[in-house]
Amino acid sequence: MLILGIETSCDETAAAVLEDGAKLRSSIVASQAALHADYGGVVPELASRRHLEAILPIVTKALQEAGVGLQDLDGIAVTQGPGLVGSLLVGLSVAKALAYVHHLPLVGINHLEGHIFAGFLQEPRPSYPFLALLVSGGHTALYHCPAPLGYRLLGATRDDAAGEAFDKVAKLLGLGYPGGPIIERVARDGDPRAIPFPVAQFSDGAPDFSFSGLKTAVSLFVRKHGPLTPRLIADVCASFQATVVKMLVRRTGRAALREGTRRILVSGGVAANRLLREALQAEAEERGFELFTPPPALCTDNAAMIAAAGYARLLAGERADLRLNAVADLRLVARPRA
Ligand code: KG4
Ligand code: ZN
Repeated sequence: MLILGIETSCDETAAAVLEDGAKLRSSIVASQAALHADYGGVVPELASRRHLEAILPIVTKALQEAGVGLQDLDGIAVTQGPGLVGSLLVGLSVAKALAYVHHLPLVGINHLEGHIFAGFLQEPRPSYPFLALLVSGGHTALYHCPAPLGYRLLGATRDDAAGEAFDKVAKLLGLGYPGGPIIERVARDGDPRAIPFPVAQFSDGAPDFSFSGLKTAVSLFVRKHGPLTPRLIADVCASFQATVVKMLVRRTGRAALREGTRRILVSGGVAANRLLREALQAEAEERGFELFTPPPALCTDNAAMIAAAGYARLLAGERADLRLNAVADLRLVARPRA
């Protein structure tokens, strides 16, 4: 079964061809990072225009690299939300047009479900139940996944997403966009214990996250000690990164213990971070958890993960019709959508 996946929810135009839910025949990602770099974040109108220019060449390239034609496909999976509505509409319109013209089954995918399915693109694949930590630019959340296509939200960020915190801190340090990979690089020369930034705690004990206090602490530090030397900038990056990682690892470990889950899947752009991957691996080994992390290229936005989720939903009999529409704040629901 050959599925074409299409992803345009934010600032990556991506298409991929996946065979039988696991064999990646092609995965093409065109990043718009350079386009948005001057603004320190994604400019929605610019994003949708660039998607329009890029989408057909990217789909064509994905098909070519996979060595297949549209007539060989068995279905199309496209990101329906959450994301920027103008950007989502570009991918959806192309997916619907191709499905209509080539009489192909179509399915709309929740972007967050896609991130979870990135964990199924390599061996070993997690068996159910497992806990999923999603850490991206738009979301930071913990889900309990009891069975295929089932999701229960355990906790989420109360303010900024983890990736958003990386992006904002990079911006206030004048380091550029996207912040995650830049901070990770600069942090290599810094001391993670140099600045004791606060770790958010909730008195109600909820497995939620909060990063705005940390962001404010970094901002106050910069104001008090600026202009910062390169050495101090590296220390800020290392200390900030270590604090984010500590928060994510702690909450995830505790939630897994509480849920009695022995398997943890981590995905989303921030899961590309090496320190986070290593810290989670150490936590998993210490507590006897099994950790599943997609390779970094499949943690950040891509269409392979959308095709993987699409494969599962198409197999489950799900079909979308041409009324399929973008939903900017689409939630990851507990049951398969009819
Ligand atoms: O999943 P993703 O590609 O897009 C969203 O769905 O949001 O995540 C993008 C986010 C950005 O905030 C970016 O700064 C962050 O992931 N990110 C990282 C790293 N690579 C990307 N954060 C920390 N370390 C990284 N290596
Ligand atoms: Zn994403």
